[in-house]
Amino acid sequence: MPTDGIAARRSFAETVVREARDLALEYFGDRGRLQTSLKGFQDFLTAADGAVEALIRARVAEAFPDDGFLGEEGGGGASDRLWIVDPIDGTANFARGEPYWCISIGFLSRSTPMIGVIDVPMLGETFAATRGGGAFRNGRQIRVADTPSFESASIEIGWSPRRPAEHYIELIREVMQRGASVKRSASGALGMCWTACGRTDAYLELHINSWDVAAGLVIAREAGAVVSDFFTAEGLTEGNPIVCATPAIAPVLLDLVGQRTKVLRPA
Ligand code: IPD
Ligand code: CA
Repeated sequence: MPTDGIAARRSFAETVVREARDLALEYFGDRGRLQTSLKGFQDFLTAADGAVEALIRARVAEAFPDDGFLGEEGGGGASDRLWIVDPIDGTANFARGEPYWCISIGFLSRSTPMIGVIDVPMLGETFAATRGGGAFRNGRQIRVADTPSFESASIEIGWSPRRPAEHYIELIREVMQRGASVKRSASGALGMCWTACGRTDAYLELHINSWDVAAGLVIAREAGAVVSDFFTAEGLTEGNPIVCATPAIAPVLLDLVGQRTKVLRPA
């Protein structure tokens, strides 16, 4: 895809995410409008998720009518030019009034993640990257941490009921045994941004969906992280494991998560 097409879409994504942020904040500030429900065990949904996704979907259709769109709430399918959107990642936090949530907009060209824009409204932070162009937070370039070993590493391990709790607990045990501190903050998209800017050293999860990681993959890799090849096999539609880590600790984590196939080195 020509670089001007990518540049135009990056600029569009950064504009539309601001409009989406304003709408999400209207809901966040008015608990009565949330209409929180459960899609399944520990799988929260609020009225904001649908409204924010509908807004972004409509703006994409106006600006790039031939592009495809896949959203967590409204679905969608494969396309050579595909937007992948998580309207609110960290919905459980959002539903409880906790500030750790974000809006995630990714763009893929022929299955290659090209653009990632993730906005964190309650922190006033926007992470953005284009493949080959570096990763930025509020316009300043970011890099992964240079933590030398597990003994001083901080690692986030995401969880959902889509995989057995025993597997999650076993993974925590394996990582802690190597000396790392383990946390879970309940937003996969933000977990990858935190690794990208050095606040953590890795984000792992045994299964995650494409809308959770499409934008974060570009941001993390452009910031120097090693990431697993998420879009391999049926990753787009069925999800996959994710490993996103600094180069120093990635090999062990890739081994633990069992993603020994293709790995994408830092940009
Ligand atoms: C979830 C969050 C969570 C991750 C789950 C996701 P949601 O998305 O990213 O951190 O562990 O796999 O499903 O429900 O907050 O949009
Ligand atoms: Ca999500």
